[in-house]
Amino acid sequence: MKKRVLFICLGNICRSPTAEAVFKQKLKSKNWQTHFEVDSAGTSNNHVGESSDPRSIQHAEKRGYIMDHKARQFSADDFSKFDYLICMDDQNFQNVARLAVTESDKNKIKKMAHYLKKYNDAFILDPWPMGPEAFEKVIDLLEDGCEHLLFELHPEK
Ligand code: 4NP
Repeated sequence: MKKRVLFICLGNICRSPTAEAVFKQKLKSKNWQTHFEVDSAGTSNNHVGESSDPRSIQHAEKRGYIMDHKARQFSADDFSKFDYLICMDDQNFQNVARLAVTESDKNKIKKMAHYLKKYNDAFILDPWPMGPEAFEKVIDLLEDGCEHLLFELHPEK
């Protein structure tokens, strides 16, 4: 059975599509793509249909990640379509949790910060109103988090 992972932020143009790209790259390097389904979504509908923020694309591509996602809004249907709903910050977590109906829905919702090992941050900062350092920091955090998320979701586990 495929493990289905959805990364979630607010706009789905900065953090979650970057997480999707980083996680997919890690899967590719282990040749595990067929064991997973990976997507991303935003809790807001502000940027639906748009490509990722050009700053996120630029910083991620510099590290070799492929940023080809088009923004979409998280919907209650995603609870049945995915097994792991990985939220970038507490606001995303609460917005998703509000739509959960069953205990099983609730148990699928996780915080990306939970998977950080190298960093102590309690959430993945929103780089949107910030400068280039914030975009770099987001990728640093996501590389750390995705590494340990993948360790937990190891296909042979
Ligand atoms: P993201 O960043 O949640 O990481 O995609 C944001 C992008 C857009 C907005 C906020 C955060 N916005 O308010 O439009």
